[in-house]
Amino acid sequence: MIASSPELANELRKIVGHDHVLTENDLTAGYSVDWTGRFVGSTPIVVRPSNTEETASVVELLNRNSIPLVPQGGNTGLVGGSIPMSREVLLSLKRLNTLEPVDDLALQVTVGAGATLAQTQAHVRDHNFEIGVDLAARDSCTIGGMIATNAGGINVLRYGAMREQLIGVEAVMSDGTVIKHLEGLEKDNTGYHLPSLLAGSEGTLAIITKARLRLRPRLTEKVTALIAFESVHDAVAVSTRLRQKLPSLHALEAIFSSAMTLVSAHIGAQIPIGPNGKAWLLVEVASGTDPFEEFQQALQNCGDTILDVAVATDDRSRSKLWQFREQITEAIAVTGTPHKLDVTIGLSRLEKFIDEIPKVVKRADPNSLTYLFGHLGDGNVHVNVVGIDGSEPSNVVESAVLGYVASLGGSISAEHGIGIAKKSYLHLNRTSDELRFFRNIKKALDPNNIMHPNCMLSD
Ligand code: FAD
Ligand code: MLT
Ligand code: ZN
Repeated sequence: MIASSPELANELRKIVGHDHVLTENDLTAGYSVDWTGRFVGSTPIVVRPSNTEETASVVELLNRNSIPLVPQGGNTGLVGGSIPMSREVLLSLKRLNTLEPVDDLALQVTVGAGATLAQTQAHVRDHNFEIGVDLAARDSCTIGGMIATNAGGINVLRYGAMREQLIGVEAVMSDGTVIKHLEGLEKDNTGYHLPSLLAGSEGTLAIITKARLRLRPRLTEKVTALIAFESVHDAVAVSTRLRQKLPSLHALEAIFSSAMTLVSAHIGAQIPIGPNGKAWLLVEVASGTDPFEEFQQALQNCGDTILDVAVATDDRSRSKLWQFREQITEAIAVTGTPHKLDVTIGLSRLEKFIDEIPKVVKRADPNSLTYLFGHLGDGNVHVNVVGIDGSEPSNVVESAVLGYVASLGGSISAEHGIGIAKKSYLHLNRTSDELRFFRNIKKALDPNNIMHPNCMLSD
């Protein structure tokens, strides 16, 4: 049995080489704090394998010695799940970044778990393909992390979340065994479907080392519009109409007033349209042929519920409009340390929710500010709460917001996962029978409880 951290570090160096075992605080600190700065942990060792075999040997060694680990990809997760909060060994997967040749016939590609989304997008774009999931953290988030969180992003209404992109995985199980199913067969009913189980497992069941992904056609003809509304009710009604009438609908995002004011100031721009509006939709259509007319027709059919609209057809103006949506996360981060509550609400209850939630937050913590935005096409609202002076809001905010969401039949995690931040609220959406079943799966796949033991499931 390994008796000390220095001894463990030496054993790990034999597997991954001297340079890829970090023990000095200066070097490990960056791996121990999350993107928002809310979750600050610490680790005795960061280990950075370069391939599947090294990863398997590392996990086998840790399992043999019952030493817990936290897997980490790009460290852009927003629920504290990538952070070693209990001095676990930090397993960084970023070096597993191979990009295998694009399979033009199958419309698939196999990539290493450490490849970033942007690297993968660039790799397939030369072959006129896209990855079905896209999100603002694309330059840093990794394919492995996206699978582990079942990431959503801006194109879910067209292609589904990460689970729907996944046709096979290679994974290291808790005893170091490598399970590989990367043949890429669309039809393959030969037993349990490990990719589905690992999507959203947040590092608690296995380490994803490679993924076989479906590819989507690269749609070069895009039109983007920012649409202003006098009421949330009108924005929701138009969003439903566009979902019904626009086959080329590619993204349907929402920005509510306080987030619009904040992001405009952050990027140094005026609110481009409807300065006194209550809600804005950022809508993108994409097709192989020009979708402009179809889009224009659909907007005209929405009648006079639209306050104002700004349309962009060239890349430069389109990305200017996107800034109002994609820069919100950063705009909030510079005001302080947010509590990020990422929820789904049925569309019939959304107007009430948007109206009520700032009041629910104020009652829980009068010294806080609420920003609302999200992926309206999926009923996904991001409720971000920051203390007025930039400090963290009270934890009471969490229970007030998530309790209210559950009372409306919504989900307490739409796309970011449970991680550390929400594990004590999982019972709001899952029955005790379901949670017992989850624990049984965890126990069967990880009997020594070394795979991210403090994430997602409470004891
Ligand atoms: P990490 O943060 O490193 O890890 C996330 C979780 O996955 C952790 O539990 C970790 O233990 C586990 N994990 C990581 N790699 C592996 C692996 N190889 N095997 C097993 N487990 C692993 N998310 C969305 O869903 N939609 C968005 O629109 C979105 N936008 C964002 C915008 C910004 C600006 C930022 C900062 C974040 C955003 N996110 C969004 C959150 C985040 O980018 C996603 O959750 C992403 O999938 C995390 O990937 P990562 O590689 O950074 O994973
Ligand atoms: C987004 O949609 O912008 C993200 O999920 C990030 C966030 O919630 O801040
Ligand atoms: Zn999001």
